[in-house]
Amino acid sequence: MSVDLGIDLGTSGIKVLLRGPGDEILGSAETPLEVSVPAVGASEQDPRAWTAALEAALDALAASHGEALGRIRGIACSGQMLGLVLLDGRDRPVRPALLWNDQRAVRESAELEERVPDIGRRTNGRPDPGFPASKLLWLRRHEAAVLDRARWLLLPKDYLVLFLTGERSTDPSDAGGTQFLDNATGRWDPELIAAAGWREDRLPEVHASAGTVGGLRPEWARRWGMPAGVPVAAGAGDNSAATLGVGAAHPGRGVLTLGTSAVSCLVDGAFHPGPERAVLTVPHAVPGTWLSMGVVMNGTSALNWLAGLTGSPADRLAAAAASCWEGGDAAAAPLFLPALSGIRTPDNDPGATGRMSGLRASTGIGHLAYATLEGVVLQMAEAVEAQESAGVPVERLAAVGGGSRSRFWVRLLASALGRPLDLPAQANLAAPLGAARLAAVAGGAAPGPTLGAAASRTDRVDPDPGLAAFLRERCRVWRELLRVGRD
Ligand code: XUL
Repeated sequence: MSVDLGIDLGTSGIKVLLRGPGDEILGSAETPLEVSVPAVGASEQDPRAWTAALEAALDALAASHGEALGRIRGIACSGQMLGLVLLDGRDRPVRPALLWNDQRAVRESAELEERVPDIGRRTNGRPDPGFPASKLLWLRRHEAAVLDRARWLLLPKDYLVLFLTGERSTDPSDAGGTQFLDNATGRWDPELIAAAGWREDRLPEVHASAGTVGGLRPEWARRWGMPAGVPVAAGAGDNSAATLGVGAAHPGRGVLTLGTSAVSCLVDGAFHPGPERAVLTVPHAVPGTWLSMGVVMNGTSALNWLAGLTGSPADRLAAAAASCWEGGDAAAAPLFLPALSGIRTPDNDPGATGRMSGLRASTGIGHLAYATLEGVVLQMAEAVEAQESAGVPVERLAAVGGGSRSRFWVRLLASALGRPLDLPAQANLAAPLGAARLAAVAGGAAPGPTLGAAASRTDRVDPDPGLAAFLRERCRVWRELLRVGRD
């Protein structure tokens, strides 16, 4: 009776999950993480805080599920994509990691595009401050001495794999976000690497996502009671892992992730880049497929922002939003553009800011909460539309991520898109479950049935015709608002 361990390094916390032989979730634990904002537009985390959080989460899992940990056959990590982790010659971070939503490297993104005008069609998309290549150029300009100490560049989950095994590695789904990978062939591209002032011998080897990088270090096996040398896979970017958590391994399948960012992740059988509308495209964790991403920078982070301002917890706000609609009061809600960290898809405008329009003396918290959920959904619908116009197929979608705990938010999404959405039980654990499925394959399970299996218990959320008609009208006015933002 084998057990697989999936680890997801999110922006707001680390989740660890035990997957049983029938794909059931045997147990999970979570440790929160903070983001530090040392300057306007900055977003950083210390990689050592990630490993400390992982240790705490695994300690908790060992205390509650010690027996199951003794039967682990494989381990894999998924993680927030695009984070720049720079290590010195002894694998120590030279500075905190710059995260996917760090917005400082605007000028450097433009410079990179001047150097390699066709970069958007060769890599994951048009240069963006969130991508590692632009961040390296920013560090060259602002922190040259720090950059000179850097010997290795990894992505966030790769740092956890290094911690667990002692090996430096990455996988195609995460490497594909760096702008150093030729995303059609899946190989490091020397010209692209040189354009960002980096060197190929300072990048890790790219392993298949379910390929084994190394064995679990003996000290960790002893500490958590796991079998010595259990295989650790290369793992995948969180969006790729979340699709695998619902079995989206084939073209036309995908997930809408309501996480810190809200991302439409669509599996494609061919490379269909969409740089003009800031669609991101990377190799998917399933060889021979690609993952197209429409990225809304603020998903649950927009709701958490409102929670911070109002002192009302996010789940209560989500319930208030549902009551606002059900009580017939949504027409009085303002319109919200959730661009608190800029707009990636479809505008590629990191400098865009959020907007709330239509405030009145009678506006209450329920109206603000409704506006927040709606704003994220309207931007997600734009993202899906941008992906479809790039030629990406859409057949069947599931809603996942922490925000999918609000059934109303999922119903809003289904209504805005005019499509039914699968809603798996424990949809908030899709990324660590996808990682655990990669772990199973590294441990010897058959890839096809393991990665492509449907989620065990799934509900379906249908579009609501009344809500869909309401959203169409709201969207028309909202687009006017967005256009004002673009001028
Ligand atoms: C996608 C992206 C984010 C992070 C969030 O490109 O940067 O969705 O992966 O964890």
